[in-house]
Amino acid sequence: MRKIKIFDTTLRDGEQSPGASLNVEEKLVIARQLERLGVDVIEAGFPISSPGDFESVKLIAESLDGPTICGLARARKEDIEAAGQALEKAASSRIHVFIATSNLHMDKKLKMSREEVLKMAVNSVELARQFTDDVEFSPEDASRSDMDFMCDVIEAAINAGATTINIPDTVGYAMPIEIGERVRYVKEKVPASNDIMLSIHCHNDLGVAVANSLSAMQAGCDQIECTINGIGERAGNASLEEIVMALKMRQDVYEVETGINTEELWSTSRLVSNLTGIEVQRNKAIVGENAFAHEAGIHQHGVISDRRTYEIMSAKSVGWHGTQLVIGKHSGVHAIEKILERRGYDLNREQLHEVRTRVKDAADREKSIEEEDVVAFATEVLNELDSEEQVLSLEEVSVMTGNGFTASATIKLKINEEELIGTGTGVGPVDASSHALQEILSAHFGPELELSDYGLKAITGGTNALAHAHIQFTDQSENRFRGDAVDKDVILASVHAMIKGANRALNHRIRHEKTAGGEKSSSSPESESEPQNTAK
Ligand code: KIV
Ligand code: ZN
Repeated sequence: MRKIKIFDTTLRDGEQSPGASLNVEEKLVIARQLERLGVDVIEAGFPISSPGDFESVKLIAESLDGPTICGLARARKEDIEAAGQALEKAASSRIHVFIATSNLHMDKKLKMSREEVLKMAVNSVELARQFTDDVEFSPEDASRSDMDFMCDVIEAAINAGATTINIPDTVGYAMPIEIGERVRYVKEKVPASNDIMLSIHCHNDLGVAVANSLSAMQAGCDQIECTINGIGERAGNASLEEIVMALKMRQDVYEVETGINTEELWSTSRLVSNLTGIEVQRNKAIVGENAFAHEAGIHQHGVISDRRTYEIMSAKSVGWHGTQLVIGKHSGVHAIEKILERRGYDLNREQLHEVRTRVKDAADREKSIEEEDVVAFATEVLNELDSEEQVLSLEEVSVMTGNGFTASATIKLKINEEELIGTGTGVGPVDASSHALQEILSAHFGPELELSDYGLKAITGGTNALAHAHIQFTDQSENRFRGDAVDKDVILASVHAMIKGANRALNHRIRHEKTAGGEKSSSSPESESEPQNTAK
């Protein structure tokens, strides 16, 4: 049967989602789970964009030997060299080079002529081939590019050594019928494209990324680029789990197969959601909480007599077991290890013991701990700061809140034996605490950090549930700093998460100041000129 390659770009395009920023260790945990899931290619990052991205691509390349590890590069020498260096130790490596071919992007963004773009495409593919035999080329904004010019660039890239040509619908503009036609046009106009791998990469701005990917696949693309839970910039990318299950459930229509172990889909989805802080919408196909819940009585009746009446696939086939293991204070590290293994959290001994300590403390204080609590502790441990990163530590926090009363907070922090106190008011206790913290930060460390994302989740039900706070600070240069914390008290969880984020911001600033002339500037793949600093 025709085999479709699954190219996962969760760690690159997905990680560009607003709100998502993963540290190196978290990326490695996700990469290992993607390997278990059976993806063919992992696009692990954009090495030139930041030291963190370079490090994570390098670490993933060194640590995994199943899937091909890919690094993104603009059609520039320094980008390709950075990708080549990061991928040096990979068992199987790919460099993915892109340059825009639509008139709009060439005129307004690149400010380059068609000839210049074509030449850069050729030179960059040739350079990338000096680092690896596996080079992918993407004409960015393909779906809005002049077909014939795009074909000329594709042909030139193939002649220069590209082994995969990817057709990106960068802004999610295409309709399924058009994208299929575009792929057929390329196959007809560029005969050499039939000897290399054709790939499709769709964004979801009009909600048809999965449909577009399937249409392009039917037209001849043997590789589909997608992300877990469909995360990605703006409305996201085509969702891996939806594509894979559509191909599996409707093999009668498509007559293709993938190498994906679908029973790993649910845990991969939850792992990505927990580590990025991007929730999966309840009614999301395949992995949403409601995907296998049958609320309506008439449906329940049908499902009880035969599940197939209202279920086209089983929950088990996507790895959704429904059962949650319960952990008591006497549960050993093995029970915790079992849960975490099943949920894709590959922790080292030290981290496992730390999770165990936190579980035991929580169980000592109150109730038995459920599977989701254990997962939240593991998320927190993975997001922990190194001791040298701990610039600020929390000494005290007190809040006053009530009805007809302005919430106020006082926070005392310690930095190198010095105590710093900040006070703030706000619409509620978390807002007041955030202002108190910001008062200290702006008075002592210069320009303000904006709290650009805040999420609070009761992990399991009940008013005694543990709370998981997820925050993100953004500084004036658009650097993003994340913090995650779990506590039985929502305010403490929030303040701890904010202090983690603030520590990351300070570490970034200290590193930046130490580097003479500043750190290497980073660049967004969507823009040739504007920096996108994703400091993690
Ligand atoms: O959407 C896009 O065009 C991309 C390219 C880098 C392939 O992500
Ligand atoms: Zn993209």
